[in-house]
Amino acid sequence: MALAAKPPLGWNSWNTFSHEINEEVVRGVADAMVREGLKDAGYEYVVIDDCWSTRERDENGRLVPDPEKFPSGMKALADYVHSKGLKFGMYSCAGTHTCAEYPGGFEHEFIDAATYAAWGVDFLKYDYCNKPRYVDGAMLYRRMAMALRNCGRDILFSACNWGHDNTTDWIRSTGAHMYRSTGDIVDSWPRIKELALSQMHEQKYSGPYCFNDMDMLVVGMYGRSFNSWIADNAELTEEERAKRTTEYRTHFSLWAMMNSPLMIGCDVRDMSEETKEILLNRDVLAINQDVEVRTPFVSPHWEDQPESLIRMWKPLENGDYAIGLFNFVDGGARITLPFWDMGLPTAAGYGFKLYDCWKHEEIGVFTERFTEVVEEHGCRLYRATLVKV
Ligand code: GLA
Repeated sequence: MALAAKPPLGWNSWNTFSHEINEEVVRGVADAMVREGLKDAGYEYVVIDDCWSTRERDENGRLVPDPEKFPSGMKALADYVHSKGLKFGMYSCAGTHTCAEYPGGFEHEFIDAATYAAWGVDFLKYDYCNKPRYVDGAMLYRRMAMALRNCGRDILFSACNWGHDNTTDWIRSTGAHMYRSTGDIVDSWPRIKELALSQMHEQKYSGPYCFNDMDMLVVGMYGRSFNSWIADNAELTEEERAKRTTEYRTHFSLWAMMNSPLMIGCDVRDMSEETKEILLNRDVLAINQDVEVRTPFVSPHWEDQPESLIRMWKPLENGDYAIGLFNFVDGGARITLPFWDMGLPTAAGYGFKLYDCWKHEEIGVFTERFTEVVEEHGCRLYRATLVKV
């Protein structure tokens, strides 16, 4: 079956749980995805990242789940996730060892693919640490893709080589369904901004069956993680929390507009109302999941400040346009989008009716241009319908 016609949606354990992952957490996450409506909104993959196995393979060269973290084994856990109507994902690495130094897939690709198929795995994230220096990385993704595509089960192949070795020259041809294009995200605004800016003009390779993965979401983490490198666990004041919420909205809107897979990274068993409002925003999800997944056009506001105020738009399947305005400046700023830039001459006699995807309401019909003051690190996301004026 062809997988990843649209950007994959799901949850991944790494951002919050890191080394502290276990079957109880995964079961609880699967339960919460159903209970909180994430499954109904389209999130389907529950993915265990690094640190799930023992330090050595067994005598037959097979991977072994850590018996303390996963006492029931992976087949039982996959069955549980499947019983909730969700899909089950795991993690390995193209190198000899994973990034956290557990056994990697190098030269065990076919036996591992068979193991994953036997366990009922539906998704494999494949990292790039500890790759033997003189081995060609593209070859390793080709090899694992071949093994997965012939293991008797549909397994979505999520490559994670951080954009190294000119990933976009070869990744689509390997058979991978998504590819990490950046180093790791952390729960902070400067990193969100940095990742988004680094990919704004790198979207032309991304599309159905092979999407640019801008890394797992930090929406809803609010500084909480078992990995202090990802989040510092500092107490946030009310004001800091509110600011973070604005930034998470911008982060989610950017990833959605840029057709990134949306893999939730917070603890979905315990989400704040703001977090739910963001992750369950159907208007934003619809923009990410539009059947045509068109590459957005990115236009900086001023030629001499290309990375501060961003206007972005893309055509949607029904004739509408998704429009995103993003304020990367430290302070509020006015962002103006002349419709002329989108292709609409004023004399044509049309305007755009704008629907605000965060307020969930129509805000009016505009001709010639739209202009709005956007708060610090904030955004606006609209669905625009062309109307006669
Ligand atoms: C790398 C990846 C991360 C995560 C860790 C696990 O850093 O980029 O997403 O999988 O490894 O060790």
